Amino acid sequence: MSTPPKGKLPLPRLAELKRDGEPIVMVTAYDAPGARFAEDAGIDIVLVGDTAAMVMLGHEGTTVPVTMEEMLFLTRTVVRAARRPIVIGDMPFGSYQVSDEAAVENAIRFFKEAGADAIKLEGAGPSLSRVRAIVAAGIPVMGHVGLTPQSATMLGGFKTQGKTAEAAVRLVEDALALEDAGCFAVVLEAVPSPVAAEITRRLSVPTIGIGAGPDCDGQVLVYHDLLGLSEGHLPRFVKRYANLSREIRDALEAYAHDVRTGAFPEEQHTYEMPAEELEEFQKTMRTPSASRASDQARSASSRPANAQLPAARSEPPGLKTSSP
Ligand code: KIV
Repeated sequence: MSTPPKGKLPLPRLAELKRDGEPIVMVTAYDAPGARFAEDAGIDIVLVGDTAAMVMLGHEGTTVPVTMEEMLFLTRTVVRAARRPIVIGDMPFGSYQVSDEAAVENAIRFFKEAGADAIKLEGAGPSLSRVRAIVAAGIPVMGHVGLTPQSATMLGGFKTQGKTAEAAVRLVEDALALEDAGCFAVVLEAVPSPVAAEITRRLSVPTIGIGAGPDCDGQVLVYHDLLGLSEGHLPRFVKRYANLSREIRDALEAYAHDVRTGAFPEEQHTYEMPAEELEEFQKTMRTPSASRASDQARSASSRPANAQLPAARSEPPGLKTSSP
């Protein structure tokens, strides 16, 4: 394992927070601005969740289609902006189901190529040997039981888990097995509060709840849900802390209106040039040779892509190509 970067919340601190009864705060994020906001808000853990499939990539009602390459890309952007929070890369469906070897290879990609501090994967059962193999490779693993969206079809949809005594006992056993396999924390999703409380009591590593009641050691919500960027039906466990969709729509409508009515841009949004330069420019443009040059430039820009181009000229000195 490598030394964590300066300022990074040390992973063992999470177990201390549990022991001290200090709630752990986790949120998902999928890009650098989101990670920066999470950092500024003092969030402890940022999960680059495979919910990206739905909230970022437009897949409806499923996390299954998101790929390793997409998850690595998103994780890299978050890692660049999140300094203190522990950044967890969520292993997408297909990246760890086939074998321990494939799981370790893909976990290494999150760790090495994307710079994640840890990875998360779903389920117990066959996932236990994956956890052991990844932890043995030196990569910290967060577990996830209860409603595991990657197997939502097998679970009969996005439904609360552990509602019968028998299913609740199985959940307790699964969470204990994940701790035993080496997980540093376990997400409990859509689980009745008393079951989550019992698991939290029995585990020495922290539990992070989402729809699992107030007795978990920490809570996680999906960024788009808590900020009001998700639309349509939301699970009952979501609390909205803002209505950003409304704000964004209002702002875009106001912008479109201003452009169409000429209210934007105003004087303050435009650039001037010295009066004598402007006069010279206008004089030049009125001379016949300048008109011919601008006609030639116009016809060159409408030439087909495969037409012969004149030899490249170097840029005139002092011409700025970057935005001011
Ligand atoms: O992918 C995700 O966002 C998650 C959280 C809901 C825990 O797994």
